[in-house]
Formats: sequence, structure tokens, C-alpha cells
Amino acid sequence: MKITARAHTNIALIKYWGKRDEQLFLPMNNSISITLDQFYTTTSVAFRDDLKADSFILNGIEMGGHEVDKISRFLDLIRQTAGRNEYAIIDSVNNVPTAAGFASSASGFAALAAASTKAIGLDYSGSDLSRIARFGSGSACRSIYGGYVEWNKGVRVDGTDSYAMQILEESKWDLSILSVMVEARQKKVLSREGMTHTVKTSDFYSGWLETIDADLNLAREAIHGRDFEKLGTVLERNALKMHATMLGANPPFFYWTGATLDVMHTVQELRDSGIQAYFTIDAGPNVKVICQPKDEMAVKERMQQIQTVREVFVCHPGPGVSYIGE
Ligand code: DP6
Repeated sequence: MKITARAHTNIALIKYWGKRDEQLFLPMNNSISITLDQFYTTTSVAFRDDLKADSFILNGIEMGGHEVDKISRFLDLIRQTAGRNEYAIIDSVNNVPTAAGFASSASGFAALAAASTKAIGLDYSGSDLSRIARFGSGSACRSIYGGYVEWNKGVRVDGTDSYAMQILEESKWDLSILSVMVEARQKKVLSREGMTHTVKTSDFYSGWLETIDADLNLAREAIHGRDFEKLGTVLERNALKMHATMLGANPPFFYWTGATLDVMHTVQELRDSGIQAYFTIDAGPNVKVICQPKDEMAVKERMQQIQTVREVFVCHPGPGVSYIGE
């Protein structure tokens, strides 16, 4: 049977940065994110007994090598759990323009987890899906749910208690999330490598771990109380702290360009002029600016005026994983 599922990207407000177990994708700390409405991946999976290998089609093109290996490794887990050995045809379409600066791995693995488990006959709940999506990419476990989501790091060594939960539904608090794309000609350090190197070598990583619970508490309180200033203050501080751990690594590294700093300064200027806007940055040079919908137009216009900004995409809180055609 062919099953089709869709999952949306998410942006972390309190970051996942560092693993305590790399094989099991177990994080050092909890993280909190917003699932976004605009960008998503739609994936169909059909297991068949006449195939000699998995076949992975992405945006209409048959993939090979590393791309298909990643998917096959993930499906091996599903096959093992279900006690089956058929290969699959995976057809995936990414509505996550690379230009929008969001990684498609979160939405990609969340959609693949939902489609493949159902196609193989496993009856999985949200938390089961979140737990298995984690094995594709840690942040994918948060994309199973819509709205405001927390990934509980868990304490067990086998990782069975490490999965995400919804904190607040998407319809309960609207915010504007602007993805501000900057000009970038930078060598990429993948987030996976960046976090491993940071955990191993950063003098500041202990400070990250010592203060993360306070950040998580503030973010949770702010979300439950719909307190935008409180949320904005802690999310911006948390992002800067994550980037500070990279500056303290040996050798140090950073993702920012001059344009990244232009956007950061402009957000702070906006605040000085009385408009509440805050920024967060992941493992790349682009900036996500978060504001209230009433200020969205003003913030967007101001971002577009920055000479080093290429494009601005606007998102709002979006839904969790869904099955298509049912
Ligand atoms: C900076 O989920 O991409 O975006 O688990 O190794 O696949 P892997 O890493 P990934 O890391 C995301 C890091 C981040 C922060 C976040 O999304 O929480």
C-alpha cells in the first residue's frame, strides 16, 4: 500500500545543540520550537516485494549514493521494528526552497517517518513517530507536532523517553516568523559536525548546559502566558549563547557574515524605535526575525531595506504531520 504524509519545517526558539549519544540521536538538552506553515515536505512510501533496493525520488529526480543511503538506513530501522524486509519506493517533494534558508531534513524525516511506518503496517502514535523521526535528524522529532513544541531530551540510555510534545496549538498564538536571507559565500560547517566539535572542545559548553534549564523555563512560561517580550528576550539570548559556544571551541568557528550582523543590528534598532522584534540564527548565516503579526509589515519592510538582504519569507505557526488522501 502506498501512504503519503506531509510534515512542516520548524525553527528552534531554544536550541538543540549537542548530543549525549550520536548513534541514538540523544540530545544534551531539551529544545523548544515553532512548526511553520509555509514550508513542508510531502512523501509517499510503498514497500514492495519485487524490489532489489530502495529507490528514492526527490523532486522528481532519482537519487543515488549518499542521499539514498541516508533514507535506506532510516528505513532499515522501520523494517527491523516491523520484522519485514521488503524494499521501498520513496517519492518525496520538498516545498522548502533552499533559498528560504530552512533545512529540509526536519520536515523530510518527519514526513518519511509518518509515511513509512504506516505503509509497513505499524500503528504509531505521535510520540512513537517523534521518537523514530529523531533517528533521521534530531530536529525532525519536533516537526511531528504543530504549533509550539518541546523535545524532551529524556534520561534513559536507550532513548525511549526522548521525543517531542506539543506545548501549545498553532491556532492559540499567532506570531510572525520572517526568514531573512542574506548574501552568503561561506564554507558550510554542517550542524551535525558543528555541534559535535563544540561539545568536544568548547570552553563555553558547560555554561550552555548550566543555563539551559532557566532558558527553557522562561520560554515555556512565556508561551503559556502569550508573553511576547519575555519569549523574544529569551530566544534571542539563547541563540547568541549557542553561537558563543562555537566561538569558544578549539579551533573556533562561526556561521555569521557581515550581512548576518547587519540584520542583527537592524533588529536591535527596531526595538530601540519601539517595535518588538527579536532574532534567532541556526547553523548558517541567515537570520529568522520573530515579531507580532501587527508589526509584520513594518519589520518586513525594514528588513528589505538592508542592502545585504536578498529576500524575506514570512511564516506563521503551522500544523503537525498529516496523511494526504485520507
Ligand atoms: C542549530 O537536527 O540538523 O538547527 O540531529 O545531527 O541531524 P542532527 O542535527 P540537526 O540540528 C539542528 C541544530 C540547530 C538547532 C535546532 O534546530 O534546535
